[in-house]
Amino acid sequence: MIKEINGRTRLCGLIGYPVMHTLSPVIHNYLAEVTGKNLVYVPFQVENGLEYAIKGGFALNVLGMNVTVPYKTAVMEYLAEVDENARCISAVNTLVRMEQGYKGYNTDYLGLKRAMQVQGISLAGKDIVVLGAGGAANAVVYLCGQSGAEHVYLLNRTLEHAEKLCQHIRGFFPKTDWTAMKIEDYSQLPDKSMLAVQATSVGLHPHIEQVVIDDPAFYKNIEKAVDIIYNPGETRFMKMVKEQGGQAYNGLDMLLYQAVAAYELWNDLSIEEENCRKLSELLVKELQG
Ligand code: ATR
Repeated sequence: MIKEINGRTRLCGLIGYPVMHTLSPVIHNYLAEVTGKNLVYVPFQVENGLEYAIKGGFALNVLGMNVTVPYKTAVMEYLAEVDENARCISAVNTLVRMEQGYKGYNTDYLGLKRAMQVQGISLAGKDIVVLGAGGAANAVVYLCGQSGAEHVYLLNRTLEHAEKLCQHIRGFFPKTDWTAMKIEDYSQLPDKSMLAVQATSVGLHPHIEQVVIDDPAFYKNIEKAVDIIYNPGETRFMKMVKEQGGQAYNGLDMLLYQAVAAYELWNDLSIEEENCRKLSELLVKELQG
């Protein structure tokens, strides 16, 4: 997509390493087109010098930036302000230009929130299994707590990581029950209907045959599930949920809505659901290559 670039064109971009396979330019340049904004979004590969990248971006009048692996936490010290939600999640993925510098937000959690609303998944009062305790799981458990989940079971390969995350999040949301468990202890989960979020990198392309829990018995109680992975479009985890009669969604909507939330912050507007659906179709095509 070649558009006219002129003296009024604003720049946005993605800081990370690597950034070569990102879908963010496709999303944001599409949004610029449908909202009629004179804005271009490009990947910024930052191998070293994160501080210079942020300060340089500000000096160059860059309107907004996304931040991805490995800088989502490290970036926080170079910002003028950090939104409360992002501070609690300990990760920033969106920078919004202000007078004194950038303000950091976490739109990953906002993206998952809106994706779940669209998918008809409500977390309030629910028992939820979260698989993983890394950066992505952090945003997931924050959303669980904020949405008023009843009980969250945090299952992770390394128990200490799950315990640490539980302890952290319990301080913010004491009304929710938080339990840390080792993944292999899944048979000790209560025998009742639950929601599940798969927040590890297991099953990601090209290792599409991998799954964190490879036992149909676990999936019997999973009513609805989200895998944060979007490539492949249907992970082994999702297949196992569906085989036991549950509904399963991939992470494409989360990706899409985190970008939409960032774009809305940068441009102070709202993107209609109809355009989000069109964008989703575009992304599916893009992923199919
Ligand atoms: P991200 O920021 O994308 O969440 P991360 O912080 O590296 O990435 O976290 C990866 C998560 O996937 C962790 O919960 C990790 O478990 P550990 O805490 O034990 O490292 C989990 N994970 C990665 N590979 C795994 C595997 N082969 N089996 C089970 N869990 C795995």
